[in-house]
Amino acid sequence: MPLPASLKSRLSLPLIAAPMFLVSGPALVKAACRAGVIGSFPTANCRTVEQLDGWLAEMTDDLKRAADETGRAPAPLCPNLIVHRSNTRVPDDLAAVLRHEVELVITSVGSPEPVMKPLKDAGCLVLADVASVRHAEKAIAAGVDGLVLLTAGAGGQTGWVNPFAFVRAVRTFWDGIVVMAGGMADGQAIAAAETLGCDLAYMGTKFIATRESLAKDAYKEMLVKSRLDDVLLTKAFTGLETNMLRPSIAAAGLDPDNLPMRGAIDIAKDINASERDRPDAKRWKDIWSAGHSVSGVADVPSVAELVRRTADEYAAAKRSVQRV
Ligand SMILES: Cc1cc2nc3c(=O)[nH]c(=O)nc-3n(C[C@H](O)[C@H](O)[C@H](O)COP(=O)(O)O)c2cc1C
Repeated sequence: MPLPASLKSRLSLPLIAAPMFLVSGPALVKAACRAGVIGSFPTANCRTVEQLDGWLAEMTDDLKRAADETGRAPAPLCPNLIVHRSNTRVPDDLAAVLRHEVELVITSVGSPEPVMKPLKDAGCLVLADVASVRHAEKAIAAGVDGLVLLTAGAGGQTGWVNPFAFVRAVRTFWDGIVVMAGGMADGQAIAAAETLGCDLAYMGTKFIATRESLAKDAYKEMLVKSRLDDVLLTKAFTGLETNMLRPSIAAAGLDPDNLPMRGAIDIAKDINASERDRPDAKRWKDIWSAGHSVSGVADVPSVAELVRRTADEYAAAKRSVQRV
């Protein structure tokens, strides 16, 4: 099934503000949805399921108010369930998501299979984050409505596949929703993803550097100053390939070019030494991630302003394609 027309008509751009651990909170999600962009957040950003209930109630009320004020339905909010086996909160978070009758859910870091039936029974659209053709096939077999193709250069735990090859490979066997994730820095990139066969694009890093994100100011400033070459692909911090900002690693007292590569670093042990000199260093909370899209971060606008600029770029890209 392609992107439902009833959903598409509520979007100002074919875009999802991607879910980001410790970054996406209610202010970012509400602003994204009000601006006509799907606003996503990991449920893991709430410390308890009670807090998740509170966030969902607050966001849902705000979006109802937005609809009343404007006479137009905003874009949907979209919780992200991290369905990794180690996440014991999945059943409780899933129950909260169902209580609040959300329209759209993204699953990541594992098979969507265990959460599919309750979500589909509730009429929810499910998008699964996948990093290989095999993952894509498994998610389709589990009954998802869409695939988020995690490609090389994405922020956070990244993909490794070339985006051009990945989209075309998946389009040989899948006519459902496809979302491109990784390295999308502007409206031109979104238009290019559509040309390639995607229905939607994901933007993560660009939304970290917005006024509404939960990221620290120093993180936002580092994104503004950093460029593509400052992004280091490493397994050192999580045991999985993750794109990290070199300057944040250096600021934590580690050498980005000499990180131990035997599995995950014991963060506590390795950074404690520098913490003695820098009591404000909070281990991994001060070692920050960014995608290749970091080169597109030039300032820290509001979410509404970022969406407005991106929409202008997207419209310009579409016009230039029509002229050819
Ligand atoms: C700081 C950070 C945290 C992230 N946390 C999550 C997460 O909790 N769940 C998830 O599915 N993806 C997470 N991601 C990945 C994003 O959803 C998205 O795939 C990625 O940011 C896209 O690449 P881009 O940053 O170049 O736009 C995270 C990315 C970053 C940069």
